[in-house]
Amino acid sequence: MSQPLPNDEQLRHDFQVRDFINRELQTRFAPEDAVLRNSLSRAQAEHIPAIQISPLQGKLLQVLALTCGARKILEIGVLAGYSGTWLARSLPPDGKLISLEINPKHAEIARATFAEAGLGDRAEVRVGPALDLLPELVSEAPFDLIFIDADKRNSSQYLDWAITLSRVGSLIVADNAIRSGGVFQTPPPDENARGMAAYNSKILEHPRLVSVAIPNDDDGMDGFAISIVQPLL
Ligand code: DHB
Ligand code: MG
Repeated sequence: MSQPLPNDEQLRHDFQVRDFINRELQTRFAPEDAVLRNSLSRAQAEHIPAIQISPLQGKLLQVLALTCGARKILEIGVLAGYSGTWLARSLPPDGKLISLEINPKHAEIARATFAEAGLGDRAEVRVGPALDLLPELVSEAPFDLIFIDADKRNSSQYLDWAITLSRVGSLIVADNAIRSGGVFQTPPPDENARGMAAYNSKILEHPRLVSVAIPNDDDGMDGFAISIVQPLL
């Protein structure tokens, strides 16, 4: 027996309930302070696209960083420093966040955000294509947590570097692992979905990773892939 289709009123109700839950979760579990709000205002004033992670995703990154006792965090793709602020705030005073950013304007804005957050000593932004900067990080490895949120086309290559720069027990988190289901279409509908489909295949097949993906953006249409690095048996 097939279920009757929901009518407009039921759909509106479902949407309102989801919206209510999201707002309550954000208010209670991931309130934004002035620094985070200013980072978004600065980004908007500079016409940087509003594609940063959600507050709850930021809080999840903090919890994950604390779970793996992160002292060194690597971020690939900085935008205006919003996710970096959540991440760097989970570090101990002698901890370090290194954030890689291709766009010098974005890097400047992120530095301003980190300075305003009092994180200037802990959070460093390096400018250039990530694939050029990543080899220079070998001497600074291992990183305890690596967050990948840059151009999706190169995500699989960033994953290879993330594993190289990790230790057993490091967490590798990538944003945009679902792309409204585009990653599961054959073929994926666009370059971003194609890049993240390849990323997902790689984390699922990799002998040293145990992974999960969860829809955890504001509307449940995109979310994080989370992998933990295991010993090679
Ligand atoms: C895009 C990139 C992101 O990292 C994101 O979270 C959403 C969209 C984009 O390039 O369109
Ligand atoms: Mg993203």
